[in-house]
Amino acid sequence: MARDVLILNGPNLNMLGTRQPEVYGAETLDDVARSCAGLAAELGLTTEFRQTNHEGELVTWVQEARKGAEAIVINPAAYTHTSVALLDALLAFEGVVIEVHISNIHKREAFRHHSYVSSRADAVIAGCGTEGYLLALRRVATLLG
Ligand code: DQA
Repeated sequence: MARDVLILNGPNLNMLGTRQPEVYGAETLDDVARSCAGLAAELGLTTEFRQTNHEGELVTWVQEARKGAEAIVINPAAYTHTSVALLDALLAFEGVVIEVHISNIHKREAFRHHSYVSSRADAVIAGCGTEGYLLALRRVATLLG
């Protein structure tokens, strides 16, 4: 059975590596994509890795996942804290959802403490750096069996 996983990234994550490295680390998003592809191969998962700065595009990708993906790993970035539209799209997706944040959002400003996505997520990983994406893939592999 196909074990397709969509790994989605929200706004400003294209600047990973140069954006507030003291918060988000030195790795670029390409580095993260490469690590994810490597681990996915080991775990027998097929992954597609995407980033957008546009809320509607994120929503469309989640809608499309209904047709082909068994799981979504998502770092919605700032849309975590604002997007009911993204939550609604995720509620219509029946597979596994893992929410990832590179930083520990609960240790930061109060406006980052609430996530619309968490009420749908099967697991939330925050504060593990970019390793959080790899932990998410391992969890997906466990849940997909
Ligand atoms: C983030 C945390 C969000 O609060 C922030 O807006 C981001 C990245 C993280 O990965 O730590 O852009 O999702």
